[in-house]
Amino acid sequence: MSAPNRIWWKDGTVYQIYPASYKDSNNDGLGDIPGIISKIDYIKDLGVDLVWLSPMYDSPQLDMGYDISNYEAVYPPYGTVADMETLIEACHSRGLRLILDLVINHTSDEHQWFKESRRSKTDPKRDWYIWRPAKYAADGTRMPPNNWRSFFSGSAWQWDEHTQEYYLHLFATQQPDLNWENATTRRAIYDSAMEFWLQKGVDGFRIDTVNMYSKGTDLPDAPVIDQGIFEQPASSLFCNGPRMHEFLREMNTQVLSKYDTMTVGELPDTPDPKHVLRYVSSGDKQLDMIFQFDIVDLGGGKIHKYEYEGYQLSEMKAIIAKWQQFIDGSDGWTTVFCENHDQGRSVSRFASDAPEWRERSSKLLAIMMCAMTGTLFIYQGQEIGMINAPTAWPIEYYKDIEALNYYHSVAKRTNNDTEALAHVMKSIQILGRDHARLPMQWDSTPYAGFTGKKDGAWMRTHDLYKEINVASQLNAPDSVLNFWKKMLQTRKAHKDLFIHGRFETFDMDNQETFVFGKTFGQDRAVVALNFTDSEQPFKRPQGQGKMQLLVSNVGGVDGTEDILLPYEGRVYLAL
Ligand code: GLC
Ligand code: CA
Repeated sequence: MSAPNRIWWKDGTVYQIYPASYKDSNNDGLGDIPGIISKIDYIKDLGVDLVWLSPMYDSPQLDMGYDISNYEAVYPPYGTVADMETLIEACHSRGLRLILDLVINHTSDEHQWFKESRRSKTDPKRDWYIWRPAKYAADGTRMPPNNWRSFFSGSAWQWDEHTQEYYLHLFATQQPDLNWENATTRRAIYDSAMEFWLQKGVDGFRIDTVNMYSKGTDLPDAPVIDQGIFEQPASSLFCNGPRMHEFLREMNTQVLSKYDTMTVGELPDTPDPKHVLRYVSSGDKQLDMIFQFDIVDLGGGKIHKYEYEGYQLSEMKAIIAKWQQFIDGSDGWTTVFCENHDQGRSVSRFASDAPEWRERSSKLLAIMMCAMTGTLFIYQGQEIGMINAPTAWPIEYYKDIEALNYYHSVAKRTNNDTEALAHVMKSIQILGRDHARLPMQWDSTPYAGFTGKKDGAWMRTHDLYKEINVASQLNAPDSVLNFWKKMLQTRKAHKDLFIHGRFETFDMDNQETFVFGKTFGQDRAVVALNFTDSEQPFKRPQGQGKMQLLVSNVGGVDGTEDILLPYEGRVYLAL
């Protein structure tokens, strides 16, 4: 293969850290940068190559730091810029790279830029955000400029009494959208959010909501799909707008091309592989790779994600195949992920978190992830098989603005209809973002060793931390943790096949098992995964030649080759 295929960000595995929930070093109940530094050898020892740190910037924390009030400062409870410099050094000295979260679709309403923008209609920074006059209904009622619903429920427009205009916020009211049409604003973003940290040595960015910066200037109404309410889902109108590719090329030429970086963009609402290829084609100098959303949207409701509909295994297989294969024959690149800070835990969503199956399920998913093509991303706690919060937790234990706003909007809309609320609750139990934000489970001491604070962490600790934690898994040869380490090594040992190979599918309509193949030159592997809690018949696909078992999550398979045990996963390698 040619040289570009051996770029570090293709072969590397990324480990995502959510600073609030990783490790609390000073017992205030909140994770922090020194806490992460204290775990850096643990991270290195996993066999990963890069750390992606979720936002640690100064922020009023309405959306857990995705509402940034100063790109050039650290949220004081997390530490200081000097602590970040120490973290960069701690990573680099161990051969790890560090990428930061780049949140530049919006800022916090407490950012100095917005404070100035809202001062008056003639302020020099007025045009740095998206302001529009009100509309008026026939009866004179003041209405927002259009019917867009924000991601966190309610209108995407907020009325500003002082200047008598609305501003746009696709997320929380306190997250006003920046106006990317303004070249001065773009330059300020590049300097403050990117150059500041690149000059300190960070190795790139995970770029938040990367396809929403260009919204066009018309901002038309969205079609009505949610009857009986004014605000409508509108992401197809504000994602992938007319100047999107131009903006990313500009960002690349003006900033990123000066450094040896990696970029991975978050790309919701982009189902067309040809369109995705435009973002990740290496010839087109925009992004190195993206997170396509189909896999994490799986089962979510059409009108709102928290109206869960469920899914069939064949749908999951088709999605995986589509986003594994879309780069075939192109100069683009893909990613492998099934968890992050916005998702329920993969064991609970895609396999089984029942006590008798959860370890095997975690290993099954580890096999699947480690055998797939693209840059692999693991989320903190995934390596020990952390699971969703217990279903007994009431809504009061949840903290996330997305879940709470939706729950309360349905309560209001339906006048507390028990059935409607039970359905939302069920959906939150599967998909809620809070599941990923529970404190990391380090050991079996109080609060899972995450914090020494007497009354516990900022977010409730999982009830099962004594059974699922790092300390108990480190020295247990058969633990999920050691299985992940082994799988990451196996992936590296066969990187042509697993990281770069061509993905092929077998028996796609089967709703119980997922069997896929990987090929690279003469190398060949077959992966067989049983996604049910019962035994399933299995036949190795025809024409694969002689193969031997490379990995199994249940030990040997002597004599039972044609049966896959519940949640069993296997990898065969051609001899
Ligand atoms: C992204 C982040 C999410 C955040 C949102 C707004 O989707 O991953 O956590 O709420 O952007 O910044
Ligand atoms: Ca702390």
